[in-house]
Amino acid sequence: MIIVQLSDFHARPNGRPAYGDVDTNAAMRRAVEAVLAMEPHPDCVLVTGDLADCGLPEEYAIVQEALAALPMPVYVIPGNHDRRENFANGLRAGHPYLPESGFLHYVIDDFTVRLIGLDTVIAGEDGGEICAEREVWFAERLAEGEGRPTLVFMHHPPFRVAVAGMDAIPCRTSPGFAALVAAHPEIERVACGHYHRPIQRRFAKTMGYVAPSSAHQVALDLRPGESNRFILEPPAFAVHVWDPEAGLVSHVQPIGDFGPRREFVLDPAYPGHAIRGEQNG
Ligand SMILES: [Fe+2]
Ligand SMILES: [Fe+2]
Repeated sequence: MIIVQLSDFHARPNGRPAYGDVDTNAAMRRAVEAVLAMEPHPDCVLVTGDLADCGLPEEYAIVQEALAALPMPVYVIPGNHDRRENFANGLRAGHPYLPESGFLHYVIDDFTVRLIGLDTVIAGEDGGEICAEREVWFAERLAEGEGRPTLVFMHHPPFRVAVAGMDAIPCRTSPGFAALVAAHPEIERVACGHYHRPIQRRFAKTMGYVAPSSAHQVALDLRPGESNRFILEPPAFAVHVWDPEAGLVSHVQPIGDFGPRREFVLDPAYPGHAIRGEQNG
């Protein structure tokens, strides 16, 4: 099973780039084209929040049109730049699994890996939250999974990443949240967005993962007290591959034209040549 994780499109109304000059819509379309070019195609695509930049209906219309080019199932969850109602109204036609009301969380049980999407949005705030109601819902869904391998996806990471600007806008959780995750070793990954660059760490006896953005990245800045600044490093997406022996393996795929794939033509001085010669004759 191959799961692509796109994140943080930050789509804008046509002709109005993000932050003055970032063409996030073009970047989103390039991301979709890159997924379409994958062989084999992924079984499904996750989009982990901030699909729109300002949560405007016209932004969701642009997202809906871009995602409609993907022939495989696509599962979306909101981020802090989304507006829950506009998100649901704008995307539900192409995404009928979205709940009719309340939090936009859901379970997809159609694949080898169970997918649980969590809604971490607090309307009007940069950070997010798994409140008591959402934690209870999550615990009930985990209990129903009977130990099947599970990928949890959400916008705001529920863990520190040791970057001051990012840790200022995390997902707040109760102390019980990490214990709940740790009590379910079938959770292969807690896959997030929001921080616009690839990050991994151990979290609650599983792996916490942050996917890069399909548009602008957040510059890595490890100085204490610094705020987030964006940078036009290569856009990318995550590819999570389920292997029955290895479990879930996560890759980062940059988006762009990096030239053709080339064969390794090894120099005769390469140490492995001697062994190859013996093996071949
Ligand atoms: Fe974002
Ligand atoms: Fe965000």
